[in-house]
Amino acid sequence: MNEQHPANLSVSIAGMRLRNPVIAASGTFGYGSEYAELIDVSRLGGICTKGLTLNPRPGNKGIRLWETPAGLLNSIGLENPGIAAFIEKELPRLRSLGPAVIANLSGSTIEEYAEGAALLDASPVDMIEINISCPNVKAGGMAFGLDGEAAAPVVTQVRRSCKNKPLMVKLSPNAPDLAAVAVACVKAGADALSLVNTFKAMAIDTKSGKPVFDNISAGLSGPAIKPIALRMVWELYDSLKAAKAAVPIVGMGGISNAEDALEFLMAGAAAVQVGSASFAHPAAMIEIIDGIGNFMRSKKIKNVEEISVR
Ligand SMILES: Cc1cc2nc3c(=O)[nH]c(=O)nc-3n(C[C@H](O)[C@H](O)[C@H](O)COP(=O)(O)O)c2cc1C
Repeated sequence: MNEQHPANLSVSIAGMRLRNPVIAASGTFGYGSEYAELIDVSRLGGICTKGLTLNPRPGNKGIRLWETPAGLLNSIGLENPGIAAFIEKELPRLRSLGPAVIANLSGSTIEEYAEGAALLDASPVDMIEINISCPNVKAGGMAFGLDGEAAAPVVTQVRRSCKNKPLMVKLSPNAPDLAAVAVACVKAGADALSLVNTFKAMAIDTKSGKPVFDNISAGLSGPAIKPIALRMVWELYDSLKAAKAAVPIVGMGGISNAEDALEFLMAGAAAVQVGSASFAHPAAMIEIIDGIGNFMRSKKIKNVEEISVR
């Protein structure tokens, strides 16, 4: 490190301290230990778990991943062992890796979200990310994230059963009025917002003439969505300010390198998540952390939080 211009990359999001603003996105980093053999996982700011539900889920049948020229379609369907099993079997190892631990919580009903949140509240996770934006499940998931009236009761109930952890709500880019959903979530008790989850999309297998995925549609992630996701973060920052509902924003969608991450920070995000890029290049997040540090030193920026002010 250049001692004359030391770069402080640490950020605070709703009371959760991160050593840097780079977080592994939900569903793309397992529970961290898979990647521990490939990269120094302890360097990350945080790790979001795969989507967790109260009861175990087997996930979707049929094809689950499909590559597109500049992105990835997925239809995993929230395969997970259930929250109690996660806390018992996965969390101790994940906790020991070093980065902040964010539990990504899903459910088919409001009660399921609330019960799951109560279990996580009593566990040593640092934050809960409420996923009301999964496009790949039949019940619940994205249905809660499409309008404010559906989203607010989920956040209210989770807030009631979760007294100890900060709550971040993960928004859907498929919502017709994203700002309205976001403001409703903040008013219902969200301490932070993350966006974007995947865009509803599809592919057809021309050999069979049928949709590739059993659910017909799937979620698009990766470089193809980056400029749209960036625009959404930029606009949401302004909408929250105008509605006097400003909370930290965690931005994501197609971030592949430090330049991409800096764009999201400059759009107002307090931190970023990186998903699909890690599949193609497991060291992507490490390079992004180093790249942000180099940028700060070259511009003589002392604290990374200064980048997000606009
Ligand atoms: C294979 C896969 C599984 C995912 N699973 C989840 C999940 O369980 N919960 C969730 O909130 N988001 C999930 N996502 C969405 C990502 O966390 C992220 O919001 C999205 O992929 C956009 O970021 P990216 O373009 O960097 O991948 C998943 C994405 C992929 C590609």
